[in-house]
Amino acid sequence: QLFTNIQSLVNVRTHNQLLRGAALATLPCIDNAYLLVEDGIIKAFGAMATLQEDMPNLPNNIVDVDGQFILPCWCDSHTHIVFAGSRENEFVDKINGLSYAEIAAKGGGILNSAQKLANTREEELFEAALERIHELSALGTGAIEIKSGYGLTVEAEIKMLRVIKRLQQHTDVIIKATFLGAHTYPLSYKENHQGYVDSIIHEMLPIIKEENLADYIDVFCETGFFSPEETQQICTAALAIGLKPKLHVNQLNSIGGIEVGIANNALSLDHLETLTDHDIALLGQYKGCSTLLPTAAFFLRMPYQPARALINAGAAVTLASDFNPGSSPSGNMNFVTALSCIQMKMLPAEVINAATINGAYAMECESITGSIMIGKRADLIFTKKIPSIDYLFYSFSSNNIDKVMIKGNWVQQ
Ligand code: NIG
Ligand code: FE
Repeated sequence: QLFTNIQSLVNVRTHNQLLRGAALATLPCIDNAYLLVEDGIIKAFGAMATLQEDMPNLPNNIVDVDGQFILPCWCDSHTHIVFAGSRENEFVDKINGLSYAEIAAKGGGILNSAQKLANTREEELFEAALERIHELSALGTGAIEIKSGYGLTVEAEIKMLRVIKRLQQHTDVIIKATFLGAHTYPLSYKENHQGYVDSIIHEMLPIIKEENLADYIDVFCETGFFSPEETQQICTAALAIGLKPKLHVNQLNSIGGIEVGIANNALSLDHLETLTDHDIALLGQYKGCSTLLPTAAFFLRMPYQPARALINAGAAVTLASDFNPGSSPSGNMNFVTALSCIQMKMLPAEVINAATINGAYAMECESITGSIMIGKRADLIFTKKIPSIDYLFYSFSSNNIDKVMIKGNWVQQ
């Protein structure tokens, strides 16, 4: 399929690079362009002016997309989309002024989702998550990381990871699986934290290794959840079976999670709402991705992540949705990117890079998606006729997407 008269082909790259600091603002584009897709792969592209020369024999299937922009699909590197039910009751409780502690005392929070998940069959979890993936792919998401963490028992954590594995076989969307057994302590281990850490290390990880159920390890390193020492224990055991860390750190408190992540070569460090100057300096030097989840800050009415300070320090800022029933009940990356411009003062070029190529790095799929490059998958967003690429983020919450192509196939809109 040959697309012609493309208004602008956005994020065109000749080689892969994790974009850090000022480099995030560089967004290579080709105005008035063509793009050839064959067998689900980007085969050729260039300026319309050179089409005749580049392609003396034009293919039969030519589509004129005059006025439309084409950009790579969003790469959402942090989600929890396998869950049962929803938690809008807590949402209303919060509006009515209940505190986090009061909601937890009523059985709310992660444990609420864990109880619902324990009572839900694998088949049902699978169907609900696949439905969410369909919704997200129509919104332009072509690659997604999914965490366990609403199981909190050997049986339920493995159930969640098996669902993720099955999802991988039922969609063209690239899916990576992360084991987040250390999301919170289940009630049965309330007085025996080390007992639960031991269960993760000696009961869950061996099954995960045996059945090859996860790509990465995650821990919610936070006051009242898992300490930096416990995070280290879990990372050590997981690294021994080949799972690289992608960690929840500094959401509410700065307690040393960043240091543990860096010491263990974490692929990404995620959340980062609460950062000291020292933390920002560390992330500026850190090799991996600093993944910001602005919709979680938005939904919880918390201060946003200091994106500008991180970019100035040289960090490889990445954007993801954190889609989960408690703190970000939406996975719409169009809103994540618009919110990042509006509230974190990121430039449109920076949010596109952070949510495409850097997101791909945060899931180690940068060699196959995340930019417009010869040989990569045709994971593409076709915009409606809009005045400029900046308009995508300016007109937040409007649907500016005409079509989405994933691995060369059109997604049902
Ligand atoms: O990433 N911070 C920890 N975990 C989730 C929220 C989990 C929940 O409330 O269900 C997050 O925001
Ligand atoms: Fe999360």
